[in-house]
Amino acid sequence: MNRRQWFQFGAAAIGALIGLVLAVPGVAYLLSPLLKRRTDDSDFRTLTRLGDLVEGQPRSFSIIEEQRDAWVSYPATPVGTVWLVRQPEDAPEPVIALSAECPHLACKIKVSGDGKGFLCPCHASFFELDGSRVNRISPRGMDTLEVEPIDPNDPNAEIRVKFHRFRTGTEEKIPLA
Ligand code: FES
Repeated sequence: MNRRQWFQFGAAAIGALIGLVLAVPGVAYLLSPLLKRRTDDSDFRTLTRLGDLVEGQPRSFSIIEEQRDAWVSYPATPVGTVWLVRQPEDAPEPVIALSAECPHLACKIKVSGDGKGFLCPCHASFFELDGSRVNRISPRGMDTLEVEPIDPNDPNAEIRVKFHRFRTGTEEKIPLA
């Protein structure tokens, strides 16, 4: 290799190096949303404290989520509602969490008029306070959600629930992706 060729080779190598240095931040920027941990609906979230729930009196909580795709964040919007029901002292779990989305066709389930159960106003599905079916309109009972274990004697214990949505119209409880 003569001197001229060495010079051309050196210039090309320096150019490639500069290009690489400039490209790395750009590529990192483009890939960063894909690499970041998403705060999606699989995380536990704090809804209230144990002492704020009264045995046998369901309370509803909206689930607010910041929607985002790989590169764009959208304003926080409600994505669902959870019913929390405090259980009697001798129950295995101090609190149960139920999705308010009806397993029939996804209408929002409310507390029934007498406060002793739940009702879906769209097609009159009735459910017990534990979410089990009273009639056969919905293909399954209300969808239970996972509650983080707590000390049942601590009124300040945070009630943390893992929110998820499930397919409607099926007997089986099938999580949506
Ligand atoms: S959507 Fe609830 S009963 Fe039909």
